[in-house]
Amino acid sequence: MKKRVLSGIRATGRLHLGNYLGAVKGMLELQDNPEYETFYMVADVHTITTPYNIEDLRKNRREVIIDYLSLGLDPEKSTIFQQSEVPEHIELAFYFSSVVTIAKMQHLPTFKEKVKQYPHNSTMALLNYPILMAADILIYKAELVPVGIDQEPHLEVAREIARRFNQDFSTDFPQPQRFKTEGEYIPSLTGEGKMSKSVEGSYINLTDSLETIRKKIRAVPTSSTSGGEKTEGVKTLFTLLALFSPKSHEDFERKYEKGNLQYLELKDFISEIIFRELEPIQKKRKELEPNKEYIDSVIKEGNEKAREAARETVREVKDKMGL
Ligand code: TYM
Repeated sequence: MKKRVLSGIRATGRLHLGNYLGAVKGMLELQDNPEYETFYMVADVHTITTPYNIEDLRKNRREVIIDYLSLGLDPEKSTIFQQSEVPEHIELAFYFSSVVTIAKMQHLPTFKEKVKQYPHNSTMALLNYPILMAADILIYKAELVPVGIDQEPHLEVAREIARRFNQDFSTDFPQPQRFKTEGEYIPSLTGEGKMSKSVEGSYINLTDSLETIRKKIRAVPTSSTSGGEKTEGVKTLFTLLALFSPKSHEDFERKYEKGNLQYLELKDFISEIIFRELEPIQKKRKELEPNKEYIDSVIKEGNEKAREAARETVREVKDKMGL
């Protein structure tokens, strides 16, 4: 039997470079490896764990799928679906919650961060976030999860739940591992923290034009000199350079060390190479967008296929739990 893979992205808007490099690149690699059966969803239920706009969610749970298709996820190879259309995820999450303590969830760094960000929305849904994510993964008995490094604490929770369940109920859940990509941590363009949708000025959208990218990259804080210890902003530029043009990385590094690096030249070069990679993706998106029937059929088929697989696990779990 093929090993299974699952990943997902929340429906918070258009994908950014961090999502692409940290998650989608890994998703693509595994999709094209015949040893794996891949399930890729839009995590629309996870989107409601923090304040959101209903119309935006309605739109974005479809937009993320269009992004997936533009990036090369192929419905012939992967099951592409919407989390909320497979309600068994939520059902399994509830069963899982019977072996997880409240204290454990409250102490997760990802929970604390979100509570800091939304102090008036410390809800049960948010506390349950990692349990639902464990259910997303384990309902398909997935062994590999292509996600960025920020998701590691959630994967640890999934492994713990799998162990507990296997012990208590004789299930056969695997210990899911993160599938790492080179871009597992993309820093913010502000030079502070990671690239994130919720921080204005931190990200490049996959749909950004060359002009927009240039403007954003030019705004990355650098220093007045080159050489010596790199500032956070300069590190960010070199990280992007290494990912998009490993060949030129050395050249610019040498210039930096010699102290004659022109930051504007480096920045405009980076903008160009990023845009060069995004351009075909943007073209594909333009072609796909008007093809509503095709997109609808991909979603419908994916939802049905995922649901069938998910039902099987829930049936087994209920039986083993005595329900
Ligand atoms: P989300 O929507 O926050 O992020 C989607 C994916 O993008 C990655 N990512 C990054 N990678 C590198 N550098 C960055 N700056 C960066 N920013 C985001 C994230 O690591 C993630 O892989 N909890 C998940 C959604 C989810 C899920 C799942 C994922 C729900 N259920 C089951 C895998 C399996 C999340 O918050 O994604």
